[in-house]
Amino acid sequence: MSANDIATVVNQTITQYLSESGEQQKKRPCSGKSFTFRSPAITVTGAYCVSQLGDTLLELGATHVLLVADKLVHQLGLVSGCEQSITLAGIGLTLFTEVEGEPDTVIINQGIKVLKQSKADFVVGIGGGSALDAAKGMAVMIDHQGPLADLKIGGIASRKVGLGCIPTTAGTGSETTDITVIQDLEYGIKVPVKGPALVPDFALLDPVLMLGVPDHVTAATGIDTLTHAIEAYVSRETNPLSKAYAYHAIETVIKSLPVAVGCGDDLDMRYEMSIAAYKAGIAFSNAGLGLTHAIAHQIGAQYHIPHGVANAILLPYVMAFNALTCEKGYAELAVAMGIKVESMTQRESCNAVIQMVRSLVQDLGLPNSLTVYNINTGDLPQLAERAMLDICLIGNPRQVTATQIVVLLNRVLANDFPEGYC
Ligand SMILES: NC(=O)c1ccc[n+]([C@@H]2O[C@H](COP(=O)([O-])OP(=O)(O)OC[C@H]3O[C@@H](n4cnc5c(N)ncnc54)[C@H](O)[C@@H]3O)[C@@H](O)[C@H]2O)c1
Ligand SMILES: [Fe+2]
Repeated sequence: MSANDIATVVNQTITQYLSESGEQQKKRPCSGKSFTFRSPAITVTGAYCVSQLGDTLLELGATHVLLVADKLVHQLGLVSGCEQSITLAGIGLTLFTEVEGEPDTVIINQGIKVLKQSKADFVVGIGGGSALDAAKGMAVMIDHQGPLADLKIGGIASRKVGLGCIPTTAGTGSETTDITVIQDLEYGIKVPVKGPALVPDFALLDPVLMLGVPDHVTAATGIDTLTHAIEAYVSRETNPLSKAYAYHAIETVIKSLPVAVGCGDDLDMRYEMSIAAYKAGIAFSNAGLGLTHAIAHQIGAQYHIPHGVANAILLPYVMAFNALTCEKGYAELAVAMGIKVESMTQRESCNAVIQMVRSLVQDLGLPNSLTVYNINTGDLPQLAERAMLDICLIGNPRQVTATQIVVLLNRVLANDFPEGYC
């Protein structure tokens, strides 16, 4: 076949492909699954890199910034470096420091009001996942009003203001993800809103800002990172790039999180964890999550359980449930976790990985059951129904019913960890 003949065949095939429906396209035999991969355009890392904030904003064309900060983080003086760097760069600044706890529709609307008054062309969030999600919510919802449920379904593709994130916990990875999680006060649920416009234009990871995070927050947010990486690795929507990021995030969490919890002033471990959170964020933003997050969003909203703690309690149970369909995927993670796999069967490696996650949660002093949270068993069917509607469930490797979620939650309540896969 001549080069021209090959070009003709290729063109015909592409024309045919473009004329097919999405379903038909998916059924085509293909040696490489297609996927789109997104991350912030600029990532700045390292101790004291907050001093580069002004230059980064100038590079992105900002003229006036709305700085959205966690209230406590502001009180601790952790925002002053950002303020100085922005002012030194000759960029206008408006401060919004009212974010306390996980964001809801009220705080988003308050921020949008300030954003409109300030005429800022850039929103920068600084704080844990709560402040970052608040900033992200304001930046996109100023142009996309409407019930959260509609935004969740439609996905948000456009944004008129710039967006940057500076995490002070390691963490959620919100600084890199295409998600913001907002509490819908009307329905008492947490709604993950997703879309390309939610990926920040820049992420700035300065571990110095994380040195004073209390040990229980370091532990909970670190397990959130681990959950992102494990769920992304075995997600139905995973891809080779997400798997690579997730694998290395897991390796780092196992090595660095215990030291970061036990020795909060260890700058190297804070740095390692800031990168791990970012990697796990990139992994799941492009690959999806799973059942742990689908349930954690519901019990977190209903019983005010911090997000990382909810994940810590649920993750081992969900892994035992999912292992039926992703034993191989979990087993692959054994090496990343430093488990000696020689002479182990796949099932033994998988079990060792689940056991390692349980031990880590226990070592870090996090709860491993829901007993302390006064959960009413009568609430479980409704919580399960809500989890079934959470967009994170799409990535879960095993199919699941509301009845199975109730059984799983009853096990967690009774501290009854299963022996096999169920
Ligand atoms: N957008 C995403 O991709 C994504 C992913 C996972 C979770 N989330 C959401 O993020 C939120 C949780 O974020 P989080 O776990 O980072 O907790 P958080 O932001 O609520 O912070 C936890 C606590 O730590 C304090 N804190 C933060 N930084 C500190 C510092 N440097 N020194 C001392 N104290 C500090 C805060 O004031 C707060 O009291 C939840 O709403 C969760 O649903 C979002
Ligand atoms: Fe999370």
